[in-house]
Amino acid sequence: MNGRDLLAIEDLAREDLERILDTARHMKEIGTREVKKVPTLRGRTVINLFFEPSTRTRTSFEIAGKRLSADVVNFSPSSSSLKKSEGILDTAMTLDAMDPDAVIVRHSVAGVPKRIADALEAPVINAGDGAHAHPTQALLDLYTVWEEKGTVDGLCVTIVGDLLHSRVARSNLAAFSKMGAEVRLAAPPTMLPPAVESLGVKAYTSLREALDGSDVVMLLRIQNERLDGCFFPSVREYAATFGLDREKLRFAKDDAIVMHPGPVNRGVEISHELADRRPSVILEQVRNGVSVRMAVLYLFAGRVADTPPLGGLG
Ligand code: CP
Repeated sequence: MNGRDLLAIEDLAREDLERILDTARHMKEIGTREVKKVPTLRGRTVINLFFEPSTRTRTSFEIAGKRLSADVVNFSPSSSSLKKSEGILDTAMTLDAMDPDAVIVRHSVAGVPKRIADALEAPVINAGDGAHAHPTQALLDLYTVWEEKGTVDGLCVTIVGDLLHSRVARSNLAAFSKMGAEVRLAAPPTMLPPAVESLGVKAYTSLREALDGSDVVMLLRIQNERLDGCFFPSVREYAATFGLDREKLRFAKDDAIVMHPGPVNRGVEISHELADRRPSVILEQVRNGVSVRMAVLYLFAGRVADTPPLGGLG
């Protein structure tokens, strides 16, 4: 993986996913130490190039890089020469000329990280592009399920909500299928992708039917910024039919866990009470985001030939 771009889960083999999960497990241990820092990426530079707002992804990439001793630069579009009409590709190539070891890109338009990756020497990590892909979110979700359940193979994972606009759903569908889980999709008919059955998954318009036998319930955010039409009668109606609370969760397995990539619309996708308590693992997903992004930086930007093996991380 070293020196490669990470643009979509589809570009990774199952063995790659397993290696990332295993590396993230080692990285998580570093986060339990009194001094949460190792010298593994000392002398490396990571640039966060976020053209779209982010709390979890941008901050966790910054913390991940710093825990590995990389120099992390947060590019700020609002105070950059983008404001003087410099284009995105020129901006990216300008930053690349400063010899970073990885560039983390988020953009609201699908395909922008790929365009940038094609133009840059440095490996590009996709931190979310439009409705296309969010590979590191899927990796941290995979890690969270793997840690909670001990395996992913054979589990039933039900993804609920705005599937039409969700890069998280696309990446998770690819990741969980690759690792041997059964993936189900549940949404109002207007929010299911066209020809959904061709994706090799079962699609449901009844939440109750979709939840039956589920080990993992993954809720998606209603993405108001990407909704340019009327996809459901009202937010109240959506919350009543597809919003999860403890009563509806009874249809899933007794030990089912509840996930959400955030940010959460409380009282819409999930009840306030369920969002904050087990079996919700929403904040554990956030915590694991740091470990998984440490693993991604180590494997994709670490120049493995001259970085210590994992056993030497401490
Ligand atoms: N899940 C996610 O991508 O959150 P942010 O937009 O806060 O990074």
